[in-house]
This record gives sequence, structure tokens and C-alpha cells, in this order.
Amino acid sequence: MEKIVIIGEEPLQGTIAISGSKNASLPLMAASILTDETITLNNTPNLADIHTMGSVLDSLGVNFDKTRLIDNNQIQLTYKESNRALAEYDLVRKMRASILVLGPLLARKREATVSMPGGCAIGARPVNIHVDALAKLGGEFNLEKGYIKCEAKSGLKGAKIKLPMISVGATENIIMAATLAKGETEISNIAIEPEIIDLIDCLKAMGGKIEIQPDRKVLIQGVDELHGTTHTIIPDRIEVGTYIIAGAITKGELEIKNINFEHIENLLLAFDNLGIDLLKDKDSLKIKESNINKSIELDTKEYPGFPTDLQAQMMVLLSLSKNSSVIRENIFENRFMHVPELNRMGANIEIIGSQATVKPCSGFSGAQVMATDLRASVSLVLASLIAKGETTINRVYHLDRGYEKLEDKLAACGANIKRV
Ligand code: EPZ
Repeated sequence: MEKIVIIGEEPLQGTIAISGSKNASLPLMAASILTDETITLNNTPNLADIHTMGSVLDSLGVNFDKTRLIDNNQIQLTYKESNRALAEYDLVRKMRASILVLGPLLARKREATVSMPGGCAIGARPVNIHVDALAKLGGEFNLEKGYIKCEAKSGLKGAKIKLPMISVGATENIIMAATLAKGETEISNIAIEPEIIDLIDCLKAMGGKIEIQPDRKVLIQGVDELHGTTHTIIPDRIEVGTYIIAGAITKGELEIKNINFEHIENLLLAFDNLGIDLLKDKDSLKIKESNINKSIELDTKEYPGFPTDLQAQMMVLLSLSKNSSVIRENIFENRFMHVPELNRMGANIEIIGSQATVKPCSGFSGAQVMATDLRASVSLVLASLIAKGETTINRVYHLDRGYEKLEDKLAACGANIKRV
């Protein structure tokens, strides 16, 4: 099992280029099932999850060309009508986002068998909203031996759907399916993350008739078929937030580039409330070590609120404040696994239910720590960068799922970090 070893307290000086968004890439890859023509995705991050989604799609008859992924961050996906519509358990269990093939398969092949993704470290993460919404388009579902089996013999038909709660994945699944349903589909209470807007932009370039309306509504006119396109994936706003926090907690000055500032307004607001100043340019910013003494109350919320995927990273920054802050995790039921590990490194974070009180601490010291989920593991990296001494982070495969070339990007700026 690979580990990452970090010797802390090195100043970070240099430039970090942000990669394409993991959470935009995955639904965009699944959208390749909606057409026989080739989808070319540029600015695709070379991450474990991209390869996992590629394997799932390959098992469904999509030709996944990743020969230009490492050098040019480009992948090409071409779906060949095949008799395979089964997404196997041993692939799906590796990555819950595999559930995003459900809507496209149902729309294209009128049937699909996808393993239940199962929970993960941060929560049960059911898919009931995906299933119920697709059923409204005419999907007939049943659950057998841990698999979701569904079919729509006479194809999908447009419908008026109100999602019972805001769900990123369910919104993506239902929008993809509705692009090929007969007639009009109106979906309300949709998630509006930038990754969803990016997916919609790509689906429209493929010939989809999609109109985003105000107050979380979208109108879709079904079409008979979609064609191929070339699409450039938006930058990863969670990676941006992660490295801005790295710049705020370490000595030196970091320049971060390839930023879409519209996507991180909620993060910039939190930084502003903490009195952290950033030197913004058109698509980059510079950030120096920032001594914070203010305290804030943060609630993780659906976009445009503060992202749950930055909650763990924010705790490291708030631990350095001279005053206590509060973070409430409102999206997932168990997303504080990083807290015991951070406390072992010297943090002083108290959990009561879904509320974490981050109290001042006298700095971090290196330790052997365990990564549990993608974002928790990167919060341990952040703490290690400022910890006294050496930290070893076990189970770094979590990191490889969501951060392209993490140790290269940090080492290039002077961090003492290596993979063993
Ligand atoms: C997406 O997950 C992201 N993953 C997550 O990022 C992110 O944390 C999450 O959205 C919230 O922003 C990808 O985009 C691949 P949800 P998703 O459906 O779609 C409940 C990362 O680190 N729910 O918006 O699974 C669910 O349990 C990952 O990159 C149901 O109850 O999130 C959760 O509590 C982690 N039933 C809440 O809704 C359903 O059918 C939000 O989940 C679906 C969801």
C-alpha cells in the first residue's frame, strides 16, 4: 500500500496549475453513451476515477481512448451499440459515480443493470432520487441481488419531475436521460453546481435541447439522437480551494492559475470573512501565509453555498485561528472522519452531531495518519505541510482519486513530500 511522507514547515513558493474538474469529467464521460459519435474531452485530469469510469464504460461497449490523457489531458469516447448493459459490482463498488451510466443506458438501450453503488466512508449515499426520477420518465425498476435492473420497452417519455431533495448525481442522471426522451421534460429543484452546467453545455453542443430556467428549474425537449462534440472541461474548483488553503497556511507565496472565479465565490466570501486577502488576476491569484484571528460560522450547502468537499480542508485553516470557529456539515451524515486524525496531529476540534467546533491549537506535529476518503486525505496533507516533523499518510489511493499529480505540484513549490 503506497504512502506519502511529508516533512512539514517548508515554505511554499511557486505556481500551481489547476487541473480539469473530476466531478465534471465523470458525468461527461457517461454522456458518451448517448451518441454513436465520438466525444472528445479536453482538460481531462489524469485521475484514478477517470480510469475507473473508463473501465465501466468499456464494459458497456464504449471505446475509451486514453492514449493522449497523460501528455495532453485528452480522452475520446465512442459508444458502439452493444448488447452489454450491465455495470458490474466490482467496478461500481470502486466509485459511486458509476451510477451515472444508469440514465444514459436507459435512454439509449431502453434497459440497464447497474450494481447498487453501496455506501462509502462519508455516508449511506442511497440512489433513491435517481431511481424515482428515472421511473417518472418511464423506467421500470426492480432491485435484484444488489443490482438495479431497469427497462423502458417503449422508450422514455418526457414528464414533469420535482426532485424531493437537491442531488448532484440525480440531477445529472435525469438530465442525460431526458435529452433522448420523447417530448418535453421539466425538472425542478435541480442541483446547479458548475459541473452540472458544464454537462449541460456539452449536451447542448451534442444537439440536446436544454434550457436552464431560474429557481433551480430546467426544460428539456427530447431529440431523436445526439451527435459527437469536442468539449473542454472546467477547472476543478475543489482543487482550487484546496491549494488556496495550502497557500494561506504555509510560509511563502503561492500563485494558483486556471481559476474560474465565478465557481468559487462562496469560498472567497469565507476567506474575506476571515480577513485573508488574495491578489486576484483574471484567471489566477496569489496568496501568502495569513494569520487569522477572526472566527466564522460555516454551513456546508448545495451550490452556491460553501461546498462540503472543502469542509475538511477548511478545518485545517480554521485550526490556526486565534479564535474558535464552527463548521456544520449539512450534506453528508458522516463526513468528519478526518477530525480524529487531525486531532492526533494537534488540532483541537470538537464534534457534536453534525457540528464541529474548531478551537485554537498550538500548531500541528507530524504523525502516522490514515486517509479515509478523498477530501479527508487531502486535509491531512495540508496539516502535514505545516506540522513539526514527519507525517506518513497511509492509504493514499484516496488522494489519487481526486488530485492530479498532488505531490509533484507541491514538491515543485518546495514542499518536502514523497510517495513511498
Ligand atoms: C456529488 O456526489 C459529488 N461527486 C461529491 O463529491 C459531492 O460531495 C456531492 O455531489 C455533494 O456536492 C461527484 O460529483 C462524482 P448528492 P453525489 O447526490 O452526486 C443524498 C468528492 O469528494 N442522496 O448531491 O453522490 C446523499 O446521501 C465527492 O469529489 C439521497 O439521499 O451527491 C447526500 O447526503 C464526494 N438519495 C445528499 O443527498 C439520492 O438518490 C447529496 O448527495 C441521492 C443523494
